[in-house]
Amino acid sequence: MLSTVYSAGLWGIDGFSVIIECNAEDKIPAFELVGLPDTAVKEAKERVRAASENSGFRFPDLAFTVNLAPADKKKEGSAFDTAILVSILKCSGAIPGSVSLSDKCFIGELSLSGKLRPVSGVLCLTLAAKAAGQTEVFVPAKNAPEASVVDGVKVYPVQDMRSLILHLRGEMPIAPIEYTEGDFFADSDTFDLDFADVKGQEKAKRALEIAAAGGHNVLLIGPPGTGKSMLAKRIPGILPRMTFPEAIETTKIHSISGILPAGISLIKNRPFRSPHHTMSAPSLVGGGAIPAPGEISLAHNGVLFLDELPEFSKSVTESLRQPLEDGVVTITRTAARITYPCTFTLVCAMNPCRCGFYGHPTKECTCKPKDIKSYLSKISGPLLDRIDIQIEVPPVSYEELSDKAPGESSAEIRKRVDAARDYARARYEASGEKDPPVCNAELSSSEIRKYCPLDERAEAILSRSFDSMGLSARGYDRILRVARTIADLAKSEIIRAEHLAEAIQLRSLDRKYW
Ligand SMILES: Nc1ncnc2c1ncn2[C@@H]1O[C@H](COP(=O)(O)OP(=O)(O)O)[C@@H](O)[C@H]1O
Ligand SMILES: [Mg+2]
Repeated sequence: MLSTVYSAGLWGIDGFSVIIECNAEDKIPAFELVGLPDTAVKEAKERVRAASENSGFRFPDLAFTVNLAPADKKKEGSAFDTAILVSILKCSGAIPGSVSLSDKCFIGELSLSGKLRPVSGVLCLTLAAKAAGQTEVFVPAKNAPEASVVDGVKVYPVQDMRSLILHLRGEMPIAPIEYTEGDFFADSDTFDLDFADVKGQEKAKRALEIAAAGGHNVLLIGPPGTGKSMLAKRIPGILPRMTFPEAIETTKIHSISGILPAGISLIKNRPFRSPHHTMSAPSLVGGGAIPAPGEISLAHNGVLFLDELPEFSKSVTESLRQPLEDGVVTITRTAARITYPCTFTLVCAMNPCRCGFYGHPTKECTCKPKDIKSYLSKISGPLLDRIDIQIEVPPVSYEELSDKAPGESSAEIRKRVDAARDYARARYEASGEKDPPVCNAELSSSEIRKYCPLDERAEAILSRSFDSMGLSARGYDRILRVARTIADLAKSEIIRAEHLAEAIQLRSLDRKYW
């Protein structure tokens, strides 16, 4: 007797179809499992045997050989348990021969008692099943919301092995769960922290609005206690809404990392990751024997916030340069080489020196000039070069702090951000380019020439500042990208003098401190 059952395995953020063949012979009872790494085989055999017995299906007295193909792909983890047991029970006749399994995919780890335990990466696995042509996917009930996002497949939430077999026999059907794109857009988002709490700092708020609208990297610099951390933590509330494809991509990464909260189908809010400054380079960019995504990939389509930037080790901040440039990171280990997406907006905050008061209007800085220099030099030129917006966050006055009137709410700011993104998106989609830019921060030099028309006065300002500021070609591009976003916020196709002048303002810092 021979049976064939489908499952799926993970490779980076992509899944691949796994075929499980089971052959049973009427010989001395045995259970051979091939196609998995040695240790995993042993454990899977024990779980599958116990789960079968404890679900009320005697483990058949036959000689089984179970093969997981393709043999050349590394198959990690325990997500094949369910499919292995289904293949055995199909061979033994516990699942009748008339039941077709060729359109079904089985995913899930088994407990000894026969329950299906949740596994990581179910969204990616379900996408792989769909790509392989399967139309019904059986997953642990806890993972079902996540799998249901994939359209064109029926997703069955499975509690335990017994209910799965009864379903397949047609004795007690399990109801599939459904998800529509409508659900995605229906719920409104709520955020705990609001910009209305931040007093004064109008310039900084405006800069963050521009950063959110264009996806520009930002550096906030200023003395301690001026609200830098407070401002940065409120960014999630003003980021533009995720599109459905963006939500899928981000969810895939969180799904394989096993950090998707229970019951969550899709990540709808852009991620905001703020790792501590003691973190290592591998946990930032990704690592491990079989490389797992790092913070930069968990921040994909969202924000990576590095508070107290100079406190991070130089190897950590320097490891950001290539991912910032490419939007993807490739991690090579002896076992594997995996590429993860990491398109994120970098937000950094820092004091201008160790004591924090260098450049303060009233307080005296106690640092020696050479110490100030060495503090600032922890941030390398090439990293600064990739930060479009660099602004000072000065101390707030007593009048501003004691002002009882609430500031503008995050929801109000977000409306403008969304409108600016829509305005830019319409332009890029109308361009007919195969791979149009998603936000202004992504514009290449040639795209800048194409999409950033200046009026005459703006042209004049730019040529004057090019000389007076000693702008490099990179600096020139950065100013135009930010100016493009400012014009988008004003819904103007042409970049006017006031847009350009504001963009230059958001960039005068590196000459003051560096
Ligand atoms: N502009 C502000 N409006 C309201 N409260 C502020 C402001 N700036 C600072 N604070 C208060 O001071 C605390 C410290 O601010 P924080 O953001 O940690 O400063 P920084 O990161 O610049 O050192 C905040 O938690 C907040 O209570
Ligand atoms: Mg702080």
